[in-house]
Amino acid sequence: MAVVGDVGRWARNAEPAGETAVIAVRDLRMRYGSVDVLKGIDFTAQRGEVITLLGPNGAGKTTTIEILEGFRMRSAGEVSVLGVDPGNGNERWRARMGVVLQSWRDHGRWRVRELLYHLGRYYVPYSTPERQRPYDVDELIQTVGLGEQAGQKIASLSGGQRRRLDVAIGIIGRPELLFLDEPTAGFDPHARRDFHDLVHRLSDLDNATILLATHDLDEAEKLADRILILAGGRIVANGSADQLIRQVAGQAEVRWSRGGEHLVHSTEDASRFVRELFAQHGEEIADLEVRRASLEDTYMAMVHRYETGHVEEAVTEFEGASR
Ligand SMILES: Nc1ncnc2c1ncn2[C@@H]1O[C@H](COP(=O)(O)OP(=O)(O)O)[C@@H](O)[C@H]1O
Ligand SMILES: [Mg+2]
Repeated sequence: MAVVGDVGRWARNAEPAGETAVIAVRDLRMRYGSVDVLKGIDFTAQRGEVITLLGPNGAGKTTTIEILEGFRMRSAGEVSVLGVDPGNGNERWRARMGVVLQSWRDHGRWRVRELLYHLGRYYVPYSTPERQRPYDVDELIQTVGLGEQAGQKIASLSGGQRRRLDVAIGIIGRPELLFLDEPTAGFDPHARRDFHDLVHRLSDLDNATILLATHDLDEAEKLADRILILAGGRIVANGSADQLIRQVAGQAEVRWSRGGEHLVHSTEDASRFVRELFAQHGEEIADLEVRRASLEDTYMAMVHRYETGHVEEAVTEFEGASR
């Protein structure tokens, strides 16, 4: 599990042989006026990795993504995206990535297929033998589930259909790196599942690296190879959902009843506790239930610490937990 302030990894350049990180961020800081929104964040993303940036509203997710996209100048720190500082990215660099913004309200009079075809033309000069650009428009329309709406005006789409179009616009150029800012806001459960399938397909089949900002825990858990939790201007946790649950909220709750009495006990080692419980009371134990902490428990504990101003403490604790 990578840890907060993991500068050593950058310095040692400890990437797999022949691979460089698709995203490498070191000590990134952002200040609006006199407010520090990002107070030094560090992370890397490898080819084909799906990373979710999870955090409450106002945590700085959009800010981080926009800095990586080159839409916003950072206050300080080192950032490399596809080997380039986003502050100096040219068109060729930009053509290698896809962007789905948090809100996109434009082009209402265009029709779905027309707009995608038109946007796709932009990527033609950036097509390579290994990566043909753009995607075939009709295939893409089917992939995002807009087959029935292909000839419709954009202004007439429902919110969820509109969001599917946003996703199609983001990936028409067959990006090596895709940024998604709260992509499923306004999706019904069906559209959400389709979208999750699409993300898996892009990373598995097309080896795209995906950075997705969300405040939806369920989504983070379903999609991410790795979750970064952003709070108080820092990345306070960095690991897979399982790692975060196991290492950060290590307590499990054991419930049972004995002689008609209901009992509960919190423990770090539920198996051992249950073994001892049975060794002691055997047949008298009934209604046994072991509940492991969920990602939601972990996240709530972290955000609570941040909201009560114990950020430094929370960071230290996460660091300790990951050793
Ligand atoms: N252009 C801006 N000028 C001043 N403050 C901003 C600007 N953009 C964002 N902020 C502030 O920075 C903080 C982080 O915002 P944002 O990156 O949008 O968070 P998130 O996407 O996690 O909800 C918020 O407090 C927001 O009000
Ligand atoms: Mg945002």
